[in-house]
Amino acid sequence: MPQSIPATLIPGDGIGPEIVDATMAALDALGAPFEWDTQIAGLEGVKTAGDPLPAKTIESIRRTRLALKGPLETPSGGGYRSSNVRLREEFKLYANLRPARTLIPGGRFDNIDLVVVRENLEGLYIGHEHYIQIDDDPHAVAMATGVNTRQGSRRLLEYAFEHAVATGRKKVSIVHKANIMKALTGIFLETGLELYERKYKGRFTLDTVIIDACAMKLVLNPWQFDMLVTTNLFGDILSDLVAGLVGGLGMTPGANIGANAAIFEAVHGSAPDIAGKGVANPIALMLAAAMMLEHCHLPHMAARLRTAIDQTLNIDKARTGDLGGSTRTADFTRALVRRIANA
Ligand code: NAI
Repeated sequence: MPQSIPATLIPGDGIGPEIVDATMAALDALGAPFEWDTQIAGLEGVKTAGDPLPAKTIESIRRTRLALKGPLETPSGGGYRSSNVRLREEFKLYANLRPARTLIPGGRFDNIDLVVVRENLEGLYIGHEHYIQIDDDPHAVAMATGVNTRQGSRRLLEYAFEHAVATGRKKVSIVHKANIMKALTGIFLETGLELYERKYKGRFTLDTVIIDACAMKLVLNPWQFDMLVTTNLFGDILSDLVAGLVGGLGMTPGANIGANAAIFEAVHGSAPDIAGKGVANPIALMLAAAMMLEHCHLPHMAARLRTAIDQTLNIDKARTGDLGGSTRTADFTRALVRRIANA
């Protein structure tokens, strides 16, 4: 039995507690050795502690350096900043890893196996924005500053390249817009090319592609890509595009990796329209848990979990409403646990 691994658990808002319960049942069935410290954030944090990211939650992650989190709502009004952005900044979670694999064969895009690695802290998302008033129009001009640093680009690219080598990816594509944003995205491209030449040449093929062409190519022929690595805004958009290729947000997990912690989550939000109805698809969070198992050097458990998800979807045909089925979360989870137990 592996040693116990302290980890923070944030059930989150909306469907969060339902999909977290389902994921805990799967991890228990696997015998995963996490020792959970359950904490609150998001709306739940505001209600209970007056803060969407209470100090106790931050302290817990600082101690465990590892978290699994459900979706968090940022209350509109009250001047609250997004807890997700605060978590990224607090723990310098510079890499956002979003894999997308086809789980149900026979759809429009079959056999997809792609990963998007997105820079998570810099670029146009740093929030340096302002308006300039002209005459009586206070919003006459809008301005935003994007910042990419050599160090931030190199740290992210190095993480992506190491991940490509470790997971046997054959081709990495740097996605940029250096033909127009010559400095802002040129620095990322230039750093990637230099790093590849210096340290990774021959270990995988490196390709460069302009963001707009990349979006078109992903829809026409996604199989030509293997790993996409890019800056913050492009990564945000492309990772949702790639999620769409494999059946939507209910199927895609995300990992936020940093120098001081790693936080695993489903890519989707709190789905308030279906919260409490027992119909949410728990697969994205379960796949996030599989990534967490791999991060903790438990690849066999991760593989068992992925196989059980595949069998539950494709042999038992248990599918929630978002996948065109009518299976309830609890029934999907029961079928999955049975698959894990019988593996
Ligand atoms: P959403 O992802 O919550 O929902 C979009 C649509 O997808 C809804 O129709 C929902 O029912 C459906 N959906 C999402 N996850 C599903 C699942 N697991 N199973 C079945 N259907 C699912 O996006 P929305 O409505 O824009 O955001 C709702 C709230 O979530 C907002 O407060 C937003 O800020 C927050 N949010 C949090 C994120 C996070 O914590 N990582 C990410 C995205 C949004």
